[in-house]
Amino acid sequence: MKNFQFYNPVRILFGKGQIASVTQQIPVGAKVLVTYGGGSIRHNGVYDQVKAALQGFTTVEFGGIEANPHYETLMRAVALARTEQIDFILAVGGGSVLDGTKFIAAAIPFAGEDPWDILSRKAKIASAVPFGAVLTLPATGSEMNSGSVITRVSTQEKLAFSSPLTFPKFSVLDPETCFTLPPRQIANGIADAFTHVLEQYLTYSINTPLQDRLAEAVLLTLLEEGPKVLANPTDYDAMANFMWSATNALNGTLAAGVITDWSTHYVAHELTALHGIDHARTLAIVLPAMLRYRRAGKLQKLVQYGQRVWNITTGTDEERAEAAVQATVRFFESLDIKTRLSDYEVGPDTIQHIVQRFTERGVKNLGERADLQIADIEKILTLSL
Ligand code: NZQ
Ligand code: ZN
Repeated sequence: MKNFQFYNPVRILFGKGQIASVTQQIPVGAKVLVTYGGGSIRHNGVYDQVKAALQGFTTVEFGGIEANPHYETLMRAVALARTEQIDFILAVGGGSVLDGTKFIAAAIPFAGEDPWDILSRKAKIASAVPFGAVLTLPATGSEMNSGSVITRVSTQEKLAFSSPLTFPKFSVLDPETCFTLPPRQIANGIADAFTHVLEQYLTYSINTPLQDRLAEAVLLTLLEEGPKVLANPTDYDAMANFMWSATNALNGTLAAGVITDWSTHYVAHELTALHGIDHARTLAIVLPAMLRYRRAGKLQKLVQYGQRVWNITTGTDEERAEAAVQATVRFFESLDIKTRLSDYEVGPDTIQHIVQRFTERGVKNLGERADLQIADIEKILTLSL
């Protein structure tokens, strides 16, 4: 096992009616900025629950944070928060609102010239405004991690940052807030969480049986509970199991002490940046080709994944690995998620565009063996056409 430090200070408030308890988690007398998205919380009662819970606080609101949150929009929230001198932020929504809020929290006190440097130059974050979250979409794990992905519209860039200062102080996970999710967002959430596990699991073994089995437990639970949620989004138990699985997929436990990959996410972010394709769908496009192209280096884990998750027990190792990839593709397609670039009308010109920007960015040595180069990424994307 690799040496590791594990730090996760996020308090989880899980279950029905838990929004009311945010009152006890926000410092008395704090002026609270409430951030949210395009309006889903106004239609499902979540907004009203939050307002009721915040009755004893002075609040300021900032709505309109879009999917794949825009730097341009978030900077308007930063200006508002500075003017209003807010003390605490409460993010209410999906991964985009949470990620956007992490950026706002770090950008408010940022002393440098432009907070975009936090993303583009990995500028150091010396402090951040404390924030909590009410999650309404199980998918990203943002509710229990310190990562954030932000899009800059003017340059079509989508970049990530993380900092120990951008963990939420708490996150409310009430499955009932997710009952209004449309099938497309549920499917996205299942595929995103599933891929998060695979990025931390399908690498090479260094004898970490506990982490492997934890990863497999999350995968198997997503496979069992995901379709139940799709069939009946108001099934409380299924939603609760899905929600906690998605959180566990990316809260740091699966990554502790193991070898991780993350190249699928790195490449896939470009497809959202350039074409606005939903995050989960870009993963479903890139992942199969990534696994096939890199089968030799991931062979032992692919065989284990096939056996323990998909019950694939016959054939040569290569055949089993291919069968495991095929099972994964069938699973994505069963969620009504298409897995080829051509399904989204994206062609070779986009591959050249990505190659060009990776070249300008000096991208190199991706993947668990730090051996994945731009030429490989070009071939992988070509395989996914
Ligand atoms: O904006 P509103 O009106 O709230 O509608 C949203 C949005 O249109 C809607 N929605 C959310 N909760 C709902 C609901 N509709 C009905 N009922 C509800 N309860 O769903 C739409 C999508 O929301 P969004 O927040 O964009 O989805 P998701 O949670 O999948 O977040 C995706 C973003 O997270 C980033 C992605 O790159 C993408 O920008 N990621 C963040 C990660 C992290 N912080 O660790 C890791 C991930 O790999 C990912 O990159
Ligand atoms: Zn993801």
